[in-house]
Amino acid sequence: MELIRATIKDIQTLLEVEKTAIGLKLYSGYFTEKEVEKYVKNSVVYLIKNDNDIAGSISYDIMDSDYADISGLVIKPEFQKQGFGRKAMELLFEKLKEYKKLSLCVHPDNHARKLYESFGFEVESRKENYFGDGEPRLIMVKQQD
Ligand SMILES: CC(C)(COP(=O)(O)OP(=O)(O)OC[C@H]1O[C@@H](n2cnc3c(N)ncnc32)[C@H](O)[C@@H]1OP(=O)(O)O)[C@@H](O)C(=O)NCCC(=O)NCCS
Repeated sequence: MELIRATIKDIQTLLEVEKTAIGLKLYSGYFTEKEVEKYVKNSVVYLIKNDNDIAGSISYDIMDSDYADISGLVIKPEFQKQGFGRKAMELLFEKLKEYKKLSLCVHPDNHARKLYESFGFEVESRKENYFGDGEPRLIMVKQQD
C-alpha cells in the first residue's frame, strides 16, 4: 500500500472516494467538484493506493512550522475493516515525523476515535456543531518527540 499525492487531475477519483461517505453524520467531507478542487489546492491530499486500486484518501494541513492537522481519512466501504485505515495513518506519520504536534477532529461516536487513540491521540476539547451540521466533534492532539 502507498500514499500518492493527489493533484488537480485526481479530482474525479477523490470525489468518488468522498461520495462513499456522503450522508454519514459521523463524517463531514467534500462532495462537489468545486469543494474537492479547493481541497486539493489548499491541503496536502493523498490517494491511498493498494496494487491498482484506490482504497481511499487522507490529508493534512500545515498549521505552523511544528504543527500539522490531519483530516479526510476515508476508506471505501469495500476496503474497510482490512487494516487500510490504520496503515494509511502509519504511512502519514512517516511523512509528518518532523512535526511536534499533530491534531485531528472526529465525531465522538465514530469508531475512528479508537483508531486515533491507539496512536496516542488524546481529546483536547469538544466543539458543538463543529461543521455547522448540528453534530459535535472532538479535537484530538498528539505530541511527538
Ligand atoms: C474510519 C475508517 C477510515 C476506518 O477505516 P478501516 O480501513 O476500516 O480501518 P481499519 O481496518 O484499519 O481498522 C482500524 C480500527 O478501527 C476498527 N474498526 C474499523 N471499522 C469498524 C467498525 N465499523 N466498527 C467498529 N470498529 C471498527 C478496527 O477494529 C480497527 O481496530 P484494530 O486495528 O485495533 O483492529 C472507515 O470506516 C471510513 O472511511 N469511514 C467513513 C469516513 C470516516 O468516518 N472517516 C473518519 C473521519 S474522522
